[in-house]
Amino acid sequence: MKWNAKWIRPVADTGDAAPVYGKTFRLPGEIREAKLFLTALGVYEAELNGKRVGDFVLAPGWTTYGKRLQYQEYDITDLLDKENRITVTVGKGWYRTHLMSYNGSAYQQELCARPAGLLAQIVITYQDGHQETIITDESWQVSEGPVRFSEIYDGEIYDASVSPALDQETVCFDGPFETLIPQQGEKITEQERVSGARLIMTPKGETVIDFGQEITGYVESTLDAAAGEILDLSFAEVLDKDGNFYTENYRGAKAMYRYICRNGHQTYKPRLTFWGFRYIRVNRFPGGTQKALPECFTAIAVHSDLKRTGYLSCSSQKLNRLFDNIIWGQKGNFLDVPTDCPQRDERFGWTGDAQAFVRTACLNYDVEKFFTKWLADMAADQRENGYIGHVIPDYVYSSAASAAWGDAATICPWEVYKAYGSKKILENQFSCMCKWVDYITSTTTTPDLWTGGRHYGDWLGLDAPSGSYKGSSREDFIASAFYAHSASLVIKAGKALGRDVSSYEALYRRIVDAFRKAYPEYLTQTECVLAAHFRLAPDCQAAADQLARMVKDCGTRLQTGFVGTPYLLHVLSDYGYGELAYSLLLREEYPSWLYPVTKGATTVWEHWDGIMEDGGFWSADMNSFNHYAYGAVADWVYGVAAGILPLEDAPGYRRVRIAPLPDARLDWLKASLSTRHGRICSQWKKQDDMWRYEITTPVEADVVIDGKTHHVTPGTWCFYSKI
Ligand code: BGC
Repeated sequence: MKWNAKWIRPVADTGDAAPVYGKTFRLPGEIREAKLFLTALGVYEAELNGKRVGDFVLAPGWTTYGKRLQYQEYDITDLLDKENRITVTVGKGWYRTHLMSYNGSAYQQELCARPAGLLAQIVITYQDGHQETIITDESWQVSEGPVRFSEIYDGEIYDASVSPALDQETVCFDGPFETLIPQQGEKITEQERVSGARLIMTPKGETVIDFGQEITGYVESTLDAAAGEILDLSFAEVLDKDGNFYTENYRGAKAMYRYICRNGHQTYKPRLTFWGFRYIRVNRFPGGTQKALPECFTAIAVHSDLKRTGYLSCSSQKLNRLFDNIIWGQKGNFLDVPTDCPQRDERFGWTGDAQAFVRTACLNYDVEKFFTKWLADMAADQRENGYIGHVIPDYVYSSAASAAWGDAATICPWEVYKAYGSKKILENQFSCMCKWVDYITSTTTTPDLWTGGRHYGDWLGLDAPSGSYKGSSREDFIASAFYAHSASLVIKAGKALGRDVSSYEALYRRIVDAFRKAYPEYLTQTECVLAAHFRLAPDCQAAADQLARMVKDCGTRLQTGFVGTPYLLHVLSDYGYGELAYSLLLREEYPSWLYPVTKGATTVWEHWDGIMEDGGFWSADMNSFNHYAYGAVADWVYGVAAGILPLEDAPGYRRVRIAPLPDARLDWLKASLSTRHGRICSQWKKQDDMWRYEITTPVEADVVIDGKTHHVTPGTWCFYSKI
């Protein structure tokens, strides 16, 4: 793409108000086609002749702006006339927001100090084939518009009585060209509308609307008002134990929304920011809050436009709710970047959370393009010495990388490759993967292990010493286990690409030897999980046996955190403890996946007991009710309970192994998965005293029933086994 356009900005900064840029232009002849190329330093929304251009919300999306800024291309042929007017509003978005941890850094100051720049180029092809280009330059006008304030954490203020005068001059400035890239990820769009289900008058006398589902997005309001009347909303994920509106867990994020009305009937939705919420509190409403009815409000879920590929269902309603919550967790946090949470003053692309969830993410939705973009940001953010940030885009600027967080560099590309079968992701990321392993090699204090450094450990493990967020598993143990795991993935990826990985093979063997010497015994559930799952234990069966004992000894309770939980059930079922894995999955008391369901959860929680048995909260500051990490359990349901697994030598489900594992506590279970090669479906149900399995496969498959392998061709097959 050749840019003739210039970056423009207002002569004087508009402060909190989002500038609106505009230009009118005339087209002398009949046009064949017209394209608009557009980007901004912030988030933009464009209109052409009063109609919104495209359906991309929060464009140009979130990337490592210092190195990569996406631009979008729109076909605007049908929006054009003889006389035309284009307007573009530019909000602060992620670009000029004071994101936590990034406050005060030189990088933040540099980004925030930049103007609300706009770059646009319209390329018109007339019927006779000649072309004309309309570009941003000093001929554009600008003024403040109705968006008086807009920011990622704090929300929006909109004054409907203001219409942009477009009466001020713009100036050109030296904006970024070398970092521009065409749209690489999925676009972000409005996905679902959820009506205001229920009105609640809280004990404090506040008017609250419950949408019945936690979503990420915004609220559309429809109301009758006189000019100057005010609609004012606050957002919350949960009510407190007394039934009052609760916002403390949003921490520094003000998450407010204020709309100043014009005269008459009006409908408005903010589009330059988003909230994570289930409830809204109506602080002010035209004519008084008693006039606020649920039908005035619709919640609109906004996220990356991903195609759903996986579905799970079974005879337990509670498990079905968990499956739904996992889907909602992914929807709510796959908004251009895989974020930890969508509500408080974080909403970052935490690498540890992403690597924990990536397998499940790849099953529920087609996320190949989504991860291709995010991993490209990771590679762009990777430091010379191989350091991978705790969050991508990297704003946290730590001096040391953390095990299991930085390992997203190897785990995510490998899982995406396994799920979709294209080597492109490995080609793109291979150097980043190698550099990550080399980073560990160069920073560890003990050769062939990863010792020293600063890590998040088994984050939120339940065996944490009091007052700590980190479980009791030894940090060096976890770090060394992930060192081995990452090295093994570099080897696998390198082999898939036909590269020479002999030095990593030698390294891997040394790490395994050193690990076995350094860690002859395992002290926690997570340590057993890692030793067995990463095949580091000299006797993996013994490690799994120990894990099973530890789980049973503490009352069939898991103790694992972010690091151990994703693999916990796998280790149990891989080594003969399928029934125990199911006991953990089906357990309803805290701690368990179903406990939040019994407490009314509609998404996956950051803490097993975000809301405790007594109705109180786990904490005020670290308590997200939409954190997808523990939703990683869905991959066990697809891969083990329903038994659908890609074969490592046939990534992308080119061939498949289907080995369902029924459990008598469920009457039936069904998983279906759309793959690059067609739809796979695996279901089992009780029929008299037998299990009846129905397997549909579009490719050759090894179906394993009761330990016996049947090689089948594409089609639908039935099998039976004794219960
Ligand atoms: C985030 C996590 C993240 C963690 C790092 C938290 O504040 O919400 O999900 O992985 O920090 O330990």
